Amino acid sequence: MAGKGGAMSVHGRRVSRRDFLKAAGTAGLASAGAAALPSCGGLTTGVRAGAADSLRRLAAKKGLVIGSAFSPAAFRKDPQYGEILAREFNGLVAENAMKLEALQRVRGQFDFGRAEEIMGFARAHDMKVRAVPLVWHEALPDWARGRTFPRQEALDILREHIITVMRHFRGRIFAWDVLNEALSDKGPGLREEGPWFHSIGPDYVERVYHMAHEADPDAALFYNEFGMDGMSDKADRCYRWIKDLLARGVPIHGLGLQYHVQADAHPAAADVARNIRRFNDLGLTVHITELDVWLKKGAGPADFERQAAVYREIFETALAAPKCPAVFLWGFTDRYSWVPGISNGTYDQGLIFDREYRPKPAYEAIAAALR
Ligand code: XIL
Repeated sequence: MAGKGGAMSVHGRRVSRRDFLKAAGTAGLASAGAAALPSCGGLTTGVRAGAADSLRRLAAKKGLVIGSAFSPAAFRKDPQYGEILAREFNGLVAENAMKLEALQRVRGQFDFGRAEEIMGFARAHDMKVRAVPLVWHEALPDWARGRTFPRQEALDILREHIITVMRHFRGRIFAWDVLNEALSDKGPGLREEGPWFHSIGPDYVERVYHMAHEADPDAALFYNEFGMDGMSDKADRCYRWIKDLLARGVPIHGLGLQYHVQADAHPAAADVARNIRRFNDLGLTVHITELDVWLKKGAGPADFERQAAVYREIFETALAAPKCPAVFLWGFTDRYSWVPGISNGTYDQGLIFDREYRPKPAYEAIAAALR
């Protein structure tokens, strides 16, 4: 994804470094596809789930799910990875293994192998799983990337995917992100990148929620978005849009705020609280879904303290909100994080354990918020 001359590819398009840095203040920006991984075997770690004062123990006492993204590659090469994950978290989300690209690399052939490894780890350690995302303009297999399909064919592809995947995992998933990042960043309306908008038209949004509801009427169906954690034009647009969808009977039950932020450019806690509350008032549950707090490369002790304060604030905000019962981090150790890659090396160290698995001040800050 890193490009020459300060350009890089974000969400599949070339952007200048300046645009990226401007956007990254509140953005969740995706890089291109993950490497293929061999299958990993035994998934139990032998570690007791939730040591005495672990984050998951503290969170459970408050009724909060604290989750992390999971990378099977990291798990396989690094025994400490699974130990810490099982000890500190009671929630799990596949960083990449449940995306269309991973589940249907070959059109019509579903491969649940890697996703089931993650489910196995979650079951062994009593963790709740978020499944993400059923529909997105990124993480597309070759057969869908850059394609426009006839409308009915595109609807059939999405229907088959949603029904097959949701029925496969039925009863084992705590929240489904049915749709990810559908709003335009540029202004009103929907994002036009990816095959679904162009092939189907704007009503693809409601269609996929109805399909998901049909697949599993008991499932909690979320919409997930970046760069609208606090009050902003994008958050206002999302609010009006979801309100309208709900008024028209579209089955949406929750909103995911990704919360990829920079330690020195993040939304004010009071604004995040207001934003969560207004979606709660619409009847939606809110989850924080991909939390990381980016530091400029070469950060020092004062930066780690600033970062810790941001972590503390979002946990306190979630706990105080009417209905925000889950906070998921996008990984937990700086050893494995998407941040250096997506920021072209400008940002790093966004998580709560360092590269040697030592807890950072952010770890203690979360514990303090949970006590
Ligand atoms: C990212 C993963 O972390 C990377 O490993 C992958 O290369 C690209 O996707 N918003 C999302 C996530 O919804 O799925 C993205 O995950 C990060 C931004």
